[in-house]
Amino acid sequence: MTDLSHSPQGGLPDKRQVAASFSRAAESYDSVAALQRKVGAELLAQLPASCEPQRWLDLGCGTGYFSRALGERFTASQGVALDIAEGMLRHAQPLGGAQQFIAGDAERLPLQSASCDLLFSSLALQWCADFTAVLSEAERVLRPGGVLAFSSLCVGTLQELRDSWQTVDGFVHVNRFRRFEDYQRLCAASGLQMASLQAQAEVLHYPDVRSLTHELKALGAHNLNPGRPGGLTGRARMLALLKAYEQFRQPQGLPATYQVVYGVLRKD
Ligand SMILES: C[S@@+](CC[C@H](N)C(=O)[O-])C[C@H]1O[C@@H](n2cnc3c(N)ncnc32)[C@H](O)[C@@H]1O
Repeated sequence: MTDLSHSPQGGLPDKRQVAASFSRAAESYDSVAALQRKVGAELLAQLPASCEPQRWLDLGCGTGYFSRALGERFTASQGVALDIAEGMLRHAQPLGGAQQFIAGDAERLPLQSASCDLLFSSLALQWCADFTAVLSEAERVLRPGGVLAFSSLCVGTLQELRDSWQTVDGFVHVNRFRRFEDYQRLCAASGLQMASLQAQAEVLHYPDVRSLTHELKALGAHNLNPGRPGGLTGRARMLALLKAYEQFRQPQGLPATYQVVYGVLRKD
């Protein structure tokens, strides 16, 4: 994840940085997105059986994998794929799935009020500092009876990497995530009805730290800021990081925990 110790927006990087980073990752993303596939498939499985949208939105569509899944599931519907990263949209659009591909921000949706029946968003909203704005936009854009289904990440995600950096230089090198209780509180206050909200841990294993950080970079969520102060040289800091992370090693390899939040909300 991008180094956030000096970032605005309460610990999230600037939106232009996010868009540029994901645009750069558009070609490599799919090759390393196994967890993202699993989480999105789980979110699809959580859609209410009664959900038959005329128009759906894949919010933070990335390479469009789930836009295509939604297009296949709701064959008679109109689909919109939206992302803040134009490079992602350039990659996704030729692959189809949705009828429209739009550049936009989840906190300020460029869509008319009451224009969608389903907002599907997998692993994008952790990048939005103002989750209240996201929920309020969802409420505005949904038609009555419409559903917001999202997956996101909460505190505890990449905790091993965070703790390892803490040992090295005491600085924050990993994205700050909202607490699960904040998701609960903000969803409860949103005006949407909460059908379900839960968190589930997913643990991935890597042979070494470089495999993890290369994967984060290929996903567009890179870390390891080279410019950090801290007294040690770049190489010394890296060696210290590798050593610190080794304390977490398990028989399967070095663990990286993701705390995944799943939410399904409905507009009355
Ligand atoms: C981890 S990818 C997930 C992509 C896709 N949903 C999937 O599951 O494969 C996160 C996506 O969210 C997008 N994103 C980040 N912040 C956003 C925002 N404020 N509005 C819209 N999209 C955003 C990124 O550009 C990126 O394509």
